[in-house]
Amino acid sequence: MSRMSMIIRALLPALLLAAANTCPAAGALPDDAAFRTMLQSSFQDKGGVTVASILQQDAVQKLCSRPRSEVPAAEAERVQAEQAAQVVYPADGKYLGDWREGEKIAQNGRGLQFSDDPKEPNGGNCYACHQLNPKEAAYGTLGPSLTGYGRLRGTSPEILKYTWTRIYNTQAINVCSMMPRFGHQRILTEQQLRDVMALLLDPASPVNQ
Ligand code: HEC
Repeated sequence: MSRMSMIIRALLPALLLAAANTCPAAGALPDDAAFRTMLQSSFQDKGGVTVASILQQDAVQKLCSRPRSEVPAAEAERVQAEQAAQVVYPADGKYLGDWREGEKIAQNGRGLQFSDDPKEPNGGNCYACHQLNPKEAAYGTLGPSLTGYGRLRGTSPEILKYTWTRIYNTQAINVCSMMPRFGHQRILTEQQLRDVMALLLDPASPVNQ
């Protein structure tokens, strides 16, 4: 496979998720019953990600589907605060899992495509948008490079909390961010979130070499 087609394949699930954020300018899906029935019967629920939740725009998706100039600052602030209030932090205070598992999750762009086995865990597809391990040649640049993330920022309680919030629900920090809400939309489990946290922050992770 060419590098470009690999990147396009890797990007697909992220694009599908982003589509829910950015598609219809009017802020609502077409209200055509046949079209909705077709969508409903073409996709299947996958763990916490349900077809109903994808077809129903939430407050963030409604707000951010409007042209940027039509997003009032006060409303953006309110919706962002609502998102922040829903972030779930690890109950046992353990933010870091296994970076080796994290690397697999970051590499994996599968999980939410219609052809994927619903019993297999979802990937995070982080490389589709971020550089991480400097030895990996295939990465996207929609998001900033995360190479050296833990080496540069350390692992203070503030950095752990900030990074968890970013990955759990980046819209709690930047309401119309292009990054998927991995925890909020139950794309990744709590343990998977710990593992990608370790990929970013563990001093032994290739990201920090
Ligand atoms: C569809 C593209 C996309 C995917 C996939 C994606 N991100 Fe992001 N990410 C972004 C963008 C764009 C930003 C820039 C900040 C913003 O949008 O507010 C960002 C920001 C971040 C930040 C904050 C960086 C900083 O400088 O503080 C972290 C941490 C992060 N992403 C981690 C991840 C991890 C881990 C994954 C995989 C589980 C991931 N991202 C997947 C697009 C993406």
